[in-house]
Formats: sequence, C-alpha cells, structure tokens
Amino acid sequence: MSVNPVASPFDPSKQALYHTWSEKKLEHYPVAIEDLLVEISNPKQISPAEHEAMLAICRKTNMVLYAGNTANQADKDIPLAVGKRFGLTQLNSNWLADDEGVTSLTVVEEGTRQAYIPYSNRAIQWHTDGYYHSREQQIHGLLLHCVQNAATGGENALLDHEIAYIFLRNKNPAYIQALMQNDVMTIPARMNEGKVERAAQTGPVFSINPTTGHLHMRYSVRNQHIIWKQDPLTLEALSYLSDILENCPHIFRATLQPGMGLVSNNVLHDRANFEDDKAKPRLLYRARYFDRIVGS
Ligand SMILES: [Fe+2]
Repeated sequence: MSVNPVASPFDPSKQALYHTWSEKKLEHYPVAIEDLLVEISNPKQISPAEHEAMLAICRKTNMVLYAGNTANQADKDIPLAVGKRFGLTQLNSNWLADDEGVTSLTVVEEGTRQAYIPYSNRAIQWHTDGYYHSREQQIHGLLLHCVQNAATGGENALLDHEIAYIFLRNKNPAYIQALMQNDVMTIPARMNEGKVERAAQTGPVFSINPTTGHLHMRYSVRNQHIIWKQDPLTLEALSYLSDILENCPHIFRATLQPGMGLVSNNVLHDRANFEDDKAKPRLLYRARYFDRIVGS
C-alpha cells in the first residue's frame, strides 16, 4: 500500500498553493532581530506562555532566540531541556561531540578538533548544519546555547531557508527544479591516511518531506567542500543564491550573549570571526537533531 504524499507549497508543480502560502509567509514577516527574541525566566522549565510565544515566532521564521537567566552556567542540561520542550529529542551525536551528544564550540588548540574551523576563532561561511550527512541522517533541528560570548565578534547571520526558497522561486521557478535534482551536490569523502572516514554524499539542496510537506535545505558556500553539478541552470541558481545571502532584506544578525540561545529548524547561518578574552573564552553549546521543532 502506498501513501499519497501531502500537498506541499514547496512542490514546484503546485503553483496556486505556493502563491497563497508565500504571500502569507511574507506578510508581517519580522524585520528586527528583537522580533525573534523571547525573554524566559528559567530555560530548564519554560512556561506554557513562554513556550507559546517562542513557537509562534518559529512558525513564522523557523527560528527563535531566547534569553534566560543562566549567564555563564556551563550546564549542558540547559540546551537539552530547551530542545526537549520543543520536541527535539533525536540528538545527532557527531564524532566530535561530547558524551551527552552536545558539542562544545570553543577554541581548541590541540588534538583532532583544532583542524576544524568550528573549533577556531575564524569566520564560518553560510551553510546549514549536516549538509554532508546521508539522506537518512539529515539535520532538521539546530540549537545553539551561549555560555560565554567572545570579547569581540562572533556574530551569527541567520536566514530562514524558506525565505531563500521564495526568493529563488520568484526569480525563476526553474532554479528550484535545478536545486531539487538528486545529483546536484556531491560532498567528497573525508579521508584520513588513505582510509575513507565518511563516504562521499550526493543529494539535493532542497527536498520535501513526503509525509509532512516540510522543506529541508542542504547547503554550504564552501566551494572546496562541494562538487556542484555543472549544468547552466544550477550554476545560475547558485549564483543567485549567493546574491540572496549577501543582500536579502530578511537576514537577521545576532551576537548571542551569555544565557541566550537559538532554537531553529536548521536555518541558513554563518559566523563572524572573533577575539576571545583568554580568561573567559567563547563557549557555545550546539545540539543537532533529526527532528523539526514540533508544532512549527
Ligand atoms: Fe552551523
């Protein structure tokens, strides 16, 4: 028995549905970063009213910022509790994560981690998390919790991936078809001393969950990490996407302060470089989930 997929506005063949949905999406779309922020008293016990306020923002923008009263508390149970409150439970424990499945993003000067940009103070270009994962292991939820911010820098730019989709489709619907091709992006294998540590992954940028109709996006600007399909439409679509990531009026910018965090459906984001106060180095916890925010 086969199940009919749910009608999705992200399906390139559903023009009327897309039109209605995208008009509504852009109507009263938040403009200021403050519009995404909810103050909460205890992140480990988010109240029903706080939860509802946060969820309403997620429904609109696929992300929300919270500011709690836990500044400087290095407690991984905080992001785990926040995630759970939003139905995020299927943690992706990546190979560099700590035991709890939460990754400590801080500058590391020795060991395996030091070779990776997230563990440095360098800028990270636009991407969604886990873009190099297999189809079965896609990241749908992303949570960041700030324990300590940097002395200077470390700002995140954030862009709702549905907004990127709208700008691309409104410019040229064929761009969406190009970026939905199953062989549009290939991430080469990660090798270590001649052995394959992670196999090469090939897949689409945009995909639709057949059960829920939700949109998922895999993307990274880091060209040296991706082999793009060399058809003219794909290259044009990618070039327009780069434009969007530079000029889109719906890009938010936030520097997380101690006690603040981001709950998101793995939206597009980057990170500016930063300088630490050596006595109080920047520390962000990151949790990646195979689920989306429930109710968003
Ligand atoms: Fe990221």
